[in-house]
Amino acid sequence: MEKTYFDRKLEEATEAAEQILARHLPEETGRQRKVIEAMNYSLTAGGKRLRPVLMRETFRMCGGAGEDIIGCFMAAIEMIHTYSLVHDDLPAMDNDRYRRGKKTTWYVYGDAMGILAGDGLLNYAFETALKAVKYCVEDSGDASETVSDTEKLRRMQRVWHALSVLAGKAGIHGMIGGQAVDIMAEGHAGAEEVPGDAQQIMFIHENKTAALIQAAMMVGAILAGASEEQIGRIEKCAYNIGIAFQIQDDILDVVGDSEELGKATGSDAMNHKQTYVTLKGMEQAGADVESLSREAAGILDEFEGEHEFLKNLIINLIYRRK
Ligand code: IPE
Ligand code: IPE
Ligand code: MG
Ligand code: MG
Ligand code: MG
Repeated sequence: MEKTYFDRKLEEATEAAEQILARHLPEETGRQRKVIEAMNYSLTAGGKRLRPVLMRETFRMCGGAGEDIIGCFMAAIEMIHTYSLVHDDLPAMDNDRYRRGKKTTWYVYGDAMGILAGDGLLNYAFETALKAVKYCVEDSGDASETVSDTEKLRRMQRVWHALSVLAGKAGIHGMIGGQAVDIMAEGHAGAEEVPGDAQQIMFIHENKTAALIQAAMMVGAILAGASEEQIGRIEKCAYNIGIAFQIQDDILDVVGDSEELGKATGSDAMNHKQTYVTLKGMEQAGADVESLSREAAGILDEFEGEHEFLKNLIINLIYRRK
């Protein structure tokens, strides 16, 4: 099938994210190189790179320029997301053996190294994001162009704000919180079983998945210098994208093709997990993906900056098969 203009733009954006990530990979040296190898194994296994792409597109829409500062955060969010998958696949959690078309990290390196590789990725994400500080105080390459102290301070404030959003959305009031309630809902040994209802599913989806998508887009907006009001609109837009994304993930776990997805289907049923699909049915789930996504696209239209590709991306995610 011939590639559309959108397909080519998506390929370019994904490739750009890929290259930025490649520049930030930790070097596999030292006595601890096994854990670094396991980290890089999961990071380079592929994946859609959706979060760094969303971050960069939001940054551009909000008028951001330059690659260095945003690049550190693009790599960082993909590291946090990848660590969440490495831990999510562990035998103690979803017990999955395939991810991104390859064996999961624990399945190749063992449980202990899988845990440590996840820890390593989480920590290295913040080591990477912190490298942005260096670029805040640098003058531009052209010696004739010095950056004022006021501008340096403004950049530092944005980086600090971006770091605090990233840390918060990845933590107990974000992704980790959502994963914890997801696990409790399964009635894992040692965890209290909680009855699943619509509110609980929304809590899980909002935190385990939407929070990192919110972090991605909000960081893009913050680093571009968006206003508080604009950042708030982006947070709402990304909430919708994130909820829709997880509903579609639950749908694909039932009707998807494991080869195309690069991960096993039926994982949720195997773990007796209550999902959006078990709660609302396949038809309603699909309709909700569509309406949430269209509402998100509508929010983007309130922005003056270029966002045609970003909007198309959100609409295309409604029909994603992987
Ligand atoms: C999978 O995320 C986990 C969820 C939050 C649903 P992705 O579907 O973005 O996974 P990759 O990065 O493309 O592998
Ligand atoms: C996981 O949700 C979300 C994370 C925070 C990792 P799932 O457990 O449904 O993700 P997949 O289907 O394994 O990718
Ligand atoms: Mg899970
Ligand atoms: Mg899982
Ligand atoms: Mg899933």
